[in-house]
Amino acid sequence: MIKYALVVLILLSGFNCTHKSEVRDGDREEVFRHRADSIMALMTLDEKIGQLNLPAAGDITTGQASNSNVAEKIKNGQVGGLFNLKSAEKIREVQRLAVEESRLGIPLLFGMDVIHGYETIFPIPLGLSSSWDMDLIKETARIAANEASADGISWTFSPMTDISRDPRWGRVSEGNGEDPYLASQIAKAMVEGYQGNDLSLENTIMACVKHFALYGAGEAGRDYNTVDMSKIRMYNEYFPPYKAAIDAGVGTVMTAFNEVDGIPASANRWLMTQVLREDWGFDGFVVTDYTAIEEMIDHGIGDLDHVSALALKAGVDMDMVSEGFLTTLKSALQQGKISEKDIDDACRRILIAKLKLGLFEDPYRYADPERAKKEVFSDDNRKRAREIASQTFVLLKNDNGTLPLKKGSKIALVGPMADNAENMSGTWSVAGNFGESISLRKGLENALGDGALISYAKGSNVVVDSLLESRVSIFGKPTYRDPRSEQILIEEALVAAKDADVIIAAVGESAEMSGESSSLTTIELPENQRNLLKALHKTGKPVIVVLFTGRPIGLGWEKENIPAILNVWFAGSEAGDAIADALFGEVNPSGKLTMTFPQNVGQIPLYYNHKNTGRPLAEGKWFEKFRSNYLDVTNEPLYPFGFGLSYTSFQYGEMEFNKVELKGDDKLLVKIPVTNIGQYSGQEVVQLYIRDKVASVTRPVKELKGFQKIQLEIGQTKLVEFEITVKHLKFYDYDLNYVWESGDFEIMIGGDSQQVKSKTISWKN
Ligand code: BGC
Repeated sequence: MIKYALVVLILLSGFNCTHKSEVRDGDREEVFRHRADSIMALMTLDEKIGQLNLPAAGDITTGQASNSNVAEKIKNGQVGGLFNLKSAEKIREVQRLAVEESRLGIPLLFGMDVIHGYETIFPIPLGLSSSWDMDLIKETARIAANEASADGISWTFSPMTDISRDPRWGRVSEGNGEDPYLASQIAKAMVEGYQGNDLSLENTIMACVKHFALYGAGEAGRDYNTVDMSKIRMYNEYFPPYKAAIDAGVGTVMTAFNEVDGIPASANRWLMTQVLREDWGFDGFVVTDYTAIEEMIDHGIGDLDHVSALALKAGVDMDMVSEGFLTTLKSALQQGKISEKDIDDACRRILIAKLKLGLFEDPYRYADPERAKKEVFSDDNRKRAREIASQTFVLLKNDNGTLPLKKGSKIALVGPMADNAENMSGTWSVAGNFGESISLRKGLENALGDGALISYAKGSNVVVDSLLESRVSIFGKPTYRDPRSEQILIEEALVAAKDADVIIAAVGESAEMSGESSSLTTIELPENQRNLLKALHKTGKPVIVVLFTGRPIGLGWEKENIPAILNVWFAGSEAGDAIADALFGEVNPSGKLTMTFPQNVGQIPLYYNHKNTGRPLAEGKWFEKFRSNYLDVTNEPLYPFGFGLSYTSFQYGEMEFNKVELKGDDKLLVKIPVTNIGQYSGQEVVQLYIRDKVASVTRPVKELKGFQKIQLEIGQTKLVEFEITVKHLKFYDYDLNYVWESGDFEIMIGGDSQQVKSKTISWKN
């Protein structure tokens, strides 16, 4: 009976305000707060604490939902949400337990790691970022939200916006690369794509920016490792993408596993309250990462009672999996370690999120089996996934126009990723049907039709070490290890290549060689795969490397010897068709790297926006004694940030400036003509970099401050224009004030971070 009273109460407590146009934002917030308080007035302390608990779906996924251990907790009002449970039917069944069998009938949130698509999988985020196309990235989030919401999901643990400069860290595949400006634009696009303008609509879901903060800066690229960073670096280089997500209205924030300035993020009050809420104005709720509260015992901060109280006090609202909040907060309250207000604040924030999602009006809003049937993995979505995937490929090398291929050529297809549908989705594709992805082999066959002249051989395993391979053959993504010797596999590949005009070698990583808990100490292409390439190269036939990877990878020998390299990342469920589109020139590759490819692992961290140091190496030099360099390798990357070729060529003309001496609020207009001087129409990402030449603190040698992706037909010229104001010159100074300082600024424009036109201007206060 109380349940019905509750529903009536909340519906009467203020006007119906879920539609944005009806009332002003401030009023809406007030009404949500008022409604949440009305609900809380009916709740016991235990029920409030229950809302702060987020278990994994656990045995619900396998057994009968209503008999599971989690189900008991749901009925007892001890669960606020569940995550990674798939299908509208199951979610409806579990939601029913909460709504009909718990005392107050408060609906659950259903979360999931919808990271780069739901069932229709798009390229991994590092790949998507290489498109430099914000509309397209937003569209992937929109389609993902559409599919996920139809299937019952109201909350995604995305976007992941951790800046990282370390390709040893497997999770670089989930992020947007090394640049704070680009990653900030992407964070905004993703949040807008998932959440739309109105969270209560049936096809929008709540986003969660993660992992706050600095998770990408773990020492030595080892996952979950210690982070130690100055505040000035945090503010200038690592915080901006999280803040961009907050500014875009992201509903939730996830804590990082690592420590920040000596205190684990999940207990760090400075981070979770001062920075996040007081300085940035975040008003949603904070969830921990998986068992992050419990892990603070191993961090050496205290026992579960202590760390749970610390987390709540720090500003964490929801506990993912640890059950530290569920099992200890009541006694922490009795002991005076936390106050009832701390619990109320957290509970209120979670209830407000549920109200915003419209879950109290209709707890089943996000689980519509009919809509799911129509919209999940639909032909339309798959078509877009194919088109979008082809925009993310980065052409690293293409000597003598090796690519695009002619359809009449006899093709030999080899390599461990050539015929492996299950690995096409890459890491974090929880809801994907991997077997239904399009392999490269299938994509080539689709493109060539019945008369396809393709001979195939695997050519090598992913790695020689079978134990290593077994560590990355998890989550339904088998690598189909061939037990024969690597030599026999190579010989078989040579037989397949015998009559071919051209050899396509699908090499690199398997899907789970990057992603969570997939750090590596060497990032070279595995030796057995390189041996395969060497043997193929010796045939004298053109070899095209199609590179599958979730991280920058060591390609020194390949860059020297192989005529064409197309980096396709992990391109998602439609990978094979999309790659065929690029190989045969239906689509001209236009992706640009968002993370530097180093020459070797010893150069890491290597990133374009580094500081100059007091002993910089002169440009073009390899080594000078007592300069900042290495004895054995140049300071140059293998491929720089922003780099990517096209089947056509672009020529940059001279920059034109409206003025070169500016004051205060002046606007600097810079124009540059870009011409397509090649034989194909194509797209170019025109990049703007600025260097602040003298400041009160040291500044990077250049920073991305703008970009435009333009389409140019053969022979066409476009005048690309950038408008620069002092907003583009701002940075956090030593006292962490966000300022700009008078002086000289170098303005650079080009097609990557190294090939730029440059001119210095002065800008005074
Ligand atoms: C990851 C998060 C993810 C969570 C829930 C954790 O291991 O670090 O990114 O959202 O699991 O699946």
